Amino acid sequence: MWCLKMPIQIDLSRLPELTNEVYYPLYWNQDRYLILYGGAGSGKSVFAAQKWIFRLLNEKGLKILVIRKVAKTLRHSVFALFRSIIAEWGLTDLFKINKSDMEIYCLNGSSVVFAGLDDAEKLKSVHGINSIWIEEASEITEDDFKQVDLRLRGLTKYYKQIILTFNPVSITHWLKTYFFDTPKENCTKLKTTYKDNRFIDEEYVKVIEELKDTDPYYYTVYGLGEWGIIGKTVYNARIVTERYLAIKDIIPVRGNFVYEYENEQIIDESIEFIEDENGFIAIYEPPIEYTPYVIGGDIAEGGYEFSAASVRNNLTWNQAATFRGHLDTDLYAKQMYCLGKYYNNALIGIETNFETHPVKELERLNYPNQYVRETLDKYTGETQKKFGWLTTKITRPLIIGRHVALLRDHSDTFNDAALLEEMMTFVRNEEGRPEHQEGKTDDLIFADAICLGIRNQQTVSELPGRPKPKLTPAQEFKEKLARRRMHDLMRRSLG
Ligand SMILES: Nc1ncnc2c1ncn2[C@@H]1O[C@H](COP(=O)(O)OP(=O)(O)OP(=O)(O)O)[C@@H](O)[C@H]1O
Ligand SMILES: [Mg+2]
Repeated sequence: MWCLKMPIQIDLSRLPELTNEVYYPLYWNQDRYLILYGGAGSGKSVFAAQKWIFRLLNEKGLKILVIRKVAKTLRHSVFALFRSIIAEWGLTDLFKINKSDMEIYCLNGSSVVFAGLDDAEKLKSVHGINSIWIEEASEITEDDFKQVDLRLRGLTKYYKQIILTFNPVSITHWLKTYFFDTPKENCTKLKTTYKDNRFIDEEYVKVIEELKDTDPYYYTVYGLGEWGIIGKTVYNARIVTERYLAIKDIIPVRGNFVYEYENEQIIDESIEFIEDENGFIAIYEPPIEYTPYVIGGDIAEGGYEFSAASVRNNLTWNQAATFRGHLDTDLYAKQMYCLGKYYNNALIGIETNFETHPVKELERLNYPNQYVRETLDKYTGETQKKFGWLTTKITRPLIIGRHVALLRDHSDTFNDAALLEEMMTFVRNEEGRPEHQEGKTDDLIFADAICLGIRNQQTVSELPGRPKPKLTPAQEFKEKLARRRMHDLMRRSLG
């Protein structure tokens, strides 16, 4: 490839052999944000530097700013990397390197400036930036990032890009919320691990793979390139992570229920599950005949919260389905009605703390199997029976404690990735009260935990009605013999 627009001509035909395959197409990626994240030694930093040098050669007058949190870390990392690639690509004659100020100039007028976020003077003095690389972006704060992002405004001759390279150190990190939890336009994300880097040496691979046995957190982040879990999580972080990794690629059947509605009632025979990849309901175990199920529900209290539900098989305790979505309470109740009918008239317990409407609506729809709680009437002193689940100072720790134990003892019954994600960010606050971290949710956690609170009102044996299997003549004879023996035995024992 020849760069003819420039006074200098460089042969870049060796580019594919110098570059790891996963990154190669990104030389031409022009999105505003290019997120290169993942495990250690996956070639992120090398590729970022390669792409910048590629652009410096092609785009006359381009000016790049390379940022890290701390200025003194620049020299031996990114600055050294640029220098070694320039040398390796045989381009030393085309670049002038100012070691004391850490600046690199190309003969065509393009240049690179390096600055630490702790070096306000230098940052202030840099003008006319076209693109930015934030190396080890997990070190900087969201505010820092926003300031940097603001520097890249207005019209420039070349496309403006910010490359962020980092390891996914914590699932609670702002980078996860900012770039991964909400759709971001103009953004390309690439996750890589050491397995994507064909240049890595064996020793490095050994060190990374050893982490598997010695430190699950480090292995998750630096080996697998997955978001790490740190801090005081209520659930055992290692178990949550293992289960999450085991199921995260399993795609459930998604959809919603449709039904005919006459005289203010749902017509049971008309209820149908319609597949839709954006549906609120995720099915992991379709209903098994004569099997009792339990459904816990939790209503959004507003804002970004979801209404949620979790369905569990009351014989195996396998998580059969979940519901998660923003829906008006009456429509939520109707979906719950259908979900309950679908799962063999499952026992349904919906939280009533914030909103009693869904519980009342299920009652009005004549749903046959709602959880009933006993409450003390403040005025009469009598106990009353009411539909729905109430979370109190006593029941809250109870169901969370049971849920924690369920994960510990039977993590293989958890099937919903969104639930496990919530469990990763469910922590003890300063007062020790378990709650979701700021900006995160816990709706699926409570829905699922309510299943544990209500299950004692559902049978733990098969539902009645299964037709007796027809016996073969030989089986019939065997049964007859067994009955006869039992009869004889009893007669003898009675004398
Ligand atoms: N294209 C390449 N050509 C030659 N060597 C490479 C190339 N890409 C990566 N390497 C080698 O692999 C090593 C690790 O790559 P790099 O430092 O880019 O990984 P990283 O993903 O940035 O890791 P970390 O997450 O630890 O920062 C480099 O030090 C270099 O030896
Ligand atoms: Mg790196």
